[in-house]
Amino acid sequence: MDGLRLRPVQEKDLEYFVTFAVDRDEVGNTWQGFRDPQAPAKRFAEDGYLGQETSRLIVEVNGETAGFVSWFVGSYDEKTKYWEIGAALRPQYRGRGIGWRAQAMLTDYLFEHTPVQRIQAATQPENIAEQKSLLKAGFQFEGVIRACEFRAGEYRDLYLYSRLRSDPSVPVDH
Ligand SMILES: CC(C)(COP(=O)(O)OP(=O)(O)OC[C@H]1O[C@@H](n2cnc3c(N)ncnc32)[C@H](O)[C@@H]1OP(=O)(O)O)[C@@H](O)C(=O)NCCC(=O)NCCS
Repeated sequence: MDGLRLRPVQEKDLEYFVTFAVDRDEVGNTWQGFRDPQAPAKRFAEDGYLGQETSRLIVEVNGETAGFVSWFVGSYDEKTKYWEIGAALRPQYRGRGIGWRAQAMLTDYLFEHTPVQRIQAATQPENIAEQKSLLKAGFQFEGVIRACEFRAGEYRDLYLYSRLRSDPSVPVDH
């Protein structure tokens, strides 16, 4: 897909992140309630959203901000780190083949620049677009994490996916 790239967050993106923190329509069914609208400016001033534990990159299509990808660190044994990635596109950019490509590109980027063996992602059972996106990005379904997320008044299951360093990368330029 021509014109698709991941780039670091810039100051001009902060307004979008504020919207994402306070606008339910922008977030969609992963809405977790209002967030601090001053947090984006503080975080950008701290490290430009590129930190040791959590980070974001902007998904850009032909110079327009289509959304962002994110990742945070986790560990199952307190010594081996993995990344958990996520993606959120602005409503008008969804369903156009951007989401799976952006997550495949982010996964390649993280395997290239960090020594993790495992990258995982979790999504809601009803989020078919994200489930298909992860499979298209070379992730494999691992199972159901029961009642792990409190959202919209209930504890809810998530589906867990992963791509290992030894799993094949997926070409995105078609
Ligand atoms: C989830 C999200 C990142 C997926 O990205 P996207 O660009 O919309 O998805 P893509 O266009 O890359 O499509 C990937 C696959 O999902 C399918 N798909 C896309 N939207 C769909 C929908 N609403 N319902 C069912 N399938 C859908 C596509 O057809 C494609 O599968 P196919 O090749 O078999 O046809 C994006 O929709 C989004 O940001 N949603 C809101 C935030 C969110 O839910 N983030 C994930 C939280 S865990």
